[in-house]
Amino acid sequence: MSYFDIIKEKFEKLKDKEDLLILSIESSCDETSIAIVKNGREVLSNVIASQIEIHRRFGGVVPEVASRNHILAISSVLQEALSIANISIDQIDAIAVTYGAGLIGALLVGVNFAKGLAYSLGLPLIAVSHVHGHIAANYISHQSLKPPFLCLMVSGGHTAILKVEDYNKFSMLGTTVDDAVGEAFDKVARVIGLPYPGGPEIDKLAKEGEPTFKFTVSNSLKHTYNFSFSGIKTEVVNLVHNAQQKGLEINKADLASSFQECVTRELAEKAVKACKNSGLDSLVVAGGVGANSRLKERLNKLCDENNITFYSPALKYCTDNGAMIGSMAYYMIRDGIGLAEFDLTAKPNVELK
Ligand code: KG4
Ligand code: ZN
Repeated sequence: MSYFDIIKEKFEKLKDKEDLLILSIESSCDETSIAIVKNGREVLSNVIASQIEIHRRFGGVVPEVASRNHILAISSVLQEALSIANISIDQIDAIAVTYGAGLIGALLVGVNFAKGLAYSLGLPLIAVSHVHGHIAANYISHQSLKPPFLCLMVSGGHTAILKVEDYNKFSMLGTTVDDAVGEAFDKVARVIGLPYPGGPEIDKLAKEGEPTFKFTVSNSLKHTYNFSFSGIKTEVVNLVHNAQQKGLEINKADLASSFQECVTRELAEKAVKACKNSGLDSLVVAGGVGANSRLKERLNKLCDENNITFYSPALKYCTDNGAMIGSMAYYMIRDGIGLAEFDLTAKPNVELK
């Protein structure tokens, strides 16, 4: 019997084990995070070492800098996660890790650390998709939430409408044909001189402005669940550059508000339409842009008007964190999927479905 066969046997037994303690690792972008999650819903610890301050001076994430800082942080993040949870490592049943999508160098740090841990402890290693993790963040914040539901997935790397038919059964109804919405938020913020990451800054500034600029999104996608944000992004960039060339002042708060109104309307209307047309009565938002206050306000109102229950993760589980990976891994183990071999590698792109 090979070492992997022994681990595979352990993995199969976990399917029916009463309590599962999962140690989960997330390092796909600029947060090094390790969590300990019990039974998919109870977070015993969720330590996040954020690199935001490091990347801020560059105006965005520098991949090589991100990888190096993950290496520097990851061992102490592990110690802290175990200590906060008051758990010793031999009580852990499985190791879970984000294998993609994300920055390849950043992912490789988490994946290799996870492989080392799993191999030395003789534990099953579960390879989790980052996007699925974002969806699972909602299971932590809403203890009774169960599939099926519709998910509006909005982050720095993805924008999509997904039908979550079961914990491990997804189908994509629409996606972005160009930029992810978080990318558009970050770009618009940057062009008006706001620090990285731009999404929360736009959210804050928009509260002081009025939507006086009339932006629109592409009409050609109107009858689909697809999105396009590169047009509005370019429109904002051109408007700011033209004003700068002419020495004109632009009201940044009004610009932030106008941009945010336009993109959140598009996201919320399409998501609620897809939910209704799919015959689902629950809508879940996932990913960093899910923290946007105006988007949540719109989704709340539209869902209310259409008898749909709306769910969003607590703010700390909206952006990247290890706990969401541990939650997703629990449902993979229960369904007997996701066991990785020790040649697991990181993937910059992962299919959304
Ligand atoms: O999910 P996430 O942490 O990382 C990815 O998987 O990409 O999402 C990060 C994105 C960034 O683009 C950030 O600007 C955006 O989420 N974001 C927001 C807000 N908070 C974070 N965008 C709009 N409003 C917010 N409040
Ligand atoms: Zn993310």
